[in-house]
Amino acid sequence: MTALQESIALAAISVQPLLQARVRRKAYGDRPVLQNVPLDIAAGEVVSLVGASGCGKSTLLRIVAGLDTQYDGQVHLAGQPQQGITRDIGFIFQEPRLFPWLTVAENVAFDLGRAGRSHPQVRELLAEVGLAGFEGRLPKQLSGGQAQRVAIARGLFTRPRLLLLDEPFSAVDAFTRARLQQLLAEVARRHGLALLLVTHDVDEALFLSDRVVVLEARAGAELQVIENPLPRPRHREDASLGALRVLDALRHAHAF
Ligand SMILES: Nc1ncnc2c1ncn2[C@@H]1O[C@H](COP(=O)(O)OP(=O)(O)OP(=O)(O)O)[C@@H](O)[C@H]1O
Ligand SMILES: [Mg+2]
Repeated sequence: MTALQESIALAAISVQPLLQARVRRKAYGDRPVLQNVPLDIAAGEVVSLVGASGCGKSTLLRIVAGLDTQYDGQVHLAGQPQQGITRDIGFIFQEPRLFPWLTVAENVAFDLGRAGRSHPQVRELLAEVGLAGFEGRLPKQLSGGQAQRVAIARGLFTRPRLLLLDEPFSAVDAFTRARLQQLLAEVARRHGLALLLVTHDVDEALFLSDRVVVLEARAGAELQVIENPLPRPRHREDASLGALRVLDALRHAHAF
């Protein structure tokens, strides 16, 4: 390869999005839920997905995660077609979904089975999410916010490049929520992670993300994309300045 060809190839790699999802159609029975949804996410980019209840946000996340393969379209991760679940994509749900009979350490290292509990990364990750020393506890001995921190540590254990989060903080109180948002922003930056976050909280979307994608309530309608002009790290007060724009877009997307 000549130097010129090499630099062209490198340029092509650097502009290729980490995630390229093209959902032509996803229906349950005869009822279409998603139609012509294009979604690209660059490496390290944070994107929020907002829209009315039932408009298909969780469905889109499940497709991207490889949990749902019954749709018409393709998902590519770093240029490779995605077939089923992969360690490159982590998933954090609305509730922690910890296994009650496993310790915190075993839940974090679930990917490796029980033997993984003494993996050095377990301690590192638990310390990172503020739970140093919690290794041996059972989920019933944790608060809701602590349990969700364990879920974040578990989501990071496989060293994913993209983390999907479906309303991850909606079950915790406002103060815990603010702390977990901060934690997520730091973790994403430190690990160079891309995030796709479903949220109903417009301030959360603006505080955390580079772009807010508004999914229409009617399948097939165009996505609206709002670029967040605020540089990182963002401040909570700045986020509320942009909230009006997102609320306006949501109104146009028939979310309320
Ligand atoms: N397994 C299923 N079988 C049939 N219909 C389904 C199934 N899962 C979801 N749906 C329907 O698909 C639509 C999209 O659901 P989805 O869970 O993706 O919405 P959502 O945007 O995540 O909503 P919410 O904000 O309430 O979580 C809804 O109308 C829902 O009723
Ligand atoms: Mg949902």
